[in-house]
Amino acid sequence: MTHTFTIAIDGPAGAGKGTLARRLADHYRLNLLDTGLTYRAVAHKLLGLGLPLDNVSAAETAARQVDLSNLDRTVLSAHAVGEAASKVAVIPTVRRILVEKQRAFAKAPPGAVLDGRDIGTVVCPDADIKLYVTASAEVRAKRRLAEIESMGGSADLATILADIERRDERDMGRADSPLKPAADAHLLDTSEMAIEAAFLAAMAIVDEALAKRNRA
Ligand code: C5P
Repeated sequence: MTHTFTIAIDGPAGAGKGTLARRLADHYRLNLLDTGLTYRAVAHKLLGLGLPLDNVSAAETAARQVDLSNLDRTVLSAHAVGEAASKVAVIPTVRRILVEKQRAFAKAPPGAVLDGRDIGTVVCPDADIKLYVTASAEVRAKRRLAEIESMGGSADLATILADIERRDERDMGRADSPLKPAADAHLLDTSEMAIEAAFLAAMAIVDEALAKRNRA
């Protein structure tokens, strides 16, 4: 790959886009950014300061302080932080500040895989490849439960499902940059597909685009 190449991956929480993004970035040797972590970092900062999540000026300050090279997944992956992130993510100025950082990341050679909710629609509308990864809310809830149980925890499926549905509603219903597939996105429904199959399907899409580009 001689010039910048961008793969945009969007979809709801728990659809498997994070794993897919990592596999694609490894395979094509591209940089990787989980943009959810940037919203989580803002939420985590406000929670730590004991500030309400609708404190716009504090959220803007926290957004400006986000350092993409220093996002601690372990700290930021907590369920409560994800829930809080979807609340700060409705603030348009916070989005503008974070989107600017995400675009700069995407432009750095050799290019990147970015995953989130608005990558193909807002952050990288000119991405070479756009994937919209989805799965039914029931399947996503069962996967989340299996993940919790595999780490020795326990949870109630109905509660997880309600959480997922609430987050979907917030992400798809917000006025600024709602979650939706870009018009030119390839849809990947992972409800009945293992992540390996989703990776192979995505790879076929990327390889075809690369072959077309090399022929041009
Ligand atoms: O993907 P993740 O669960 O880490 O994202 C946390 C929250 O951050 C999402 O529910 C969503 O509200 C917000 N987000 C966003 N735009 C992105 C990535 C995440 O609004 N590009």
